[in-house]
Amino acid sequence: MSNFHVLAFAGSLRAKSYNRALLEASKRLAPEGMTIEIFDLGDIPIYNMDLEPDFPASVVAFKEAIKAADGLLIATPEHNFSFSGVLKNALDWASRPPSEGVLEGKPVALQSASPGWAGGVRSQLHLRQVLNFFSARQLYFPEVHVGAAHTKFDADLNLTDEMATTAITKQLAAFQDLIRRAKP
Ligand SMILES: Cc1cc2nc3c(=O)[nH]c(=O)nc-3n(C[C@H](O)[C@H](O)[C@H](O)COP(=O)(O)O)c2cc1C
Repeated sequence: MSNFHVLAFAGSLRAKSYNRALLEASKRLAPEGMTIEIFDLGDIPIYNMDLEPDFPASVVAFKEAIKAADGLLIATPEHNFSFSGVLKNALDWASRPPSEGVLEGKPVALQSASPGWAGGVRSQLHLRQVLNFFSARQLYFPEVHVGAAHTKFDADLNLTDEMATTAITKQLAAFQDLIRRAKP
């Protein structure tokens, strides 16, 4: 069985981020034949066109990591009914220059967590709209949005909720299928 390499990143820089914790749980729950690497967006500067074409080293590393990945797993917080500025900023950088197209056609799966009841589902809807611009191959089902997140992790941010664990396990299996089908 071929091994698929998935690059994961969270749109929250908070040390105790629930979204980052979802990615950590995903690493543990990944099916055989899938490895998940987490990329920290903390070193990506605010986008400024004046910094092109000598891209900052952190941006170069981010784009290289995207290029090398078979798929992307994005965990997004919900900020004011949308996804976070941290995430939009990182995607804007990754989209430059358009001729490189590192996001073009990438398989992408989304997760979100929020203390609110809807689990950040609105952030996913806005993020999907942006991903359309890159013709990303988006996984739609199973969905992973974890509401009341403050009750679903232990003090060390291990995911303790059975429903969320099952949803992630099923999502990653479906994502593996999508990546397989997307391969030329
Ligand atoms: C600026 C801001 C706006 C927010 N807006 C929403 C919102 O619209 N819906 C929601 O469910 N939570 C909202 N929250 C709460 C976040 O979902 C919560 O802080 C969450 O824990 C952030 O994700 P993290 O744990 O990965 O850092 C907001 C938080 C901030 C800081």
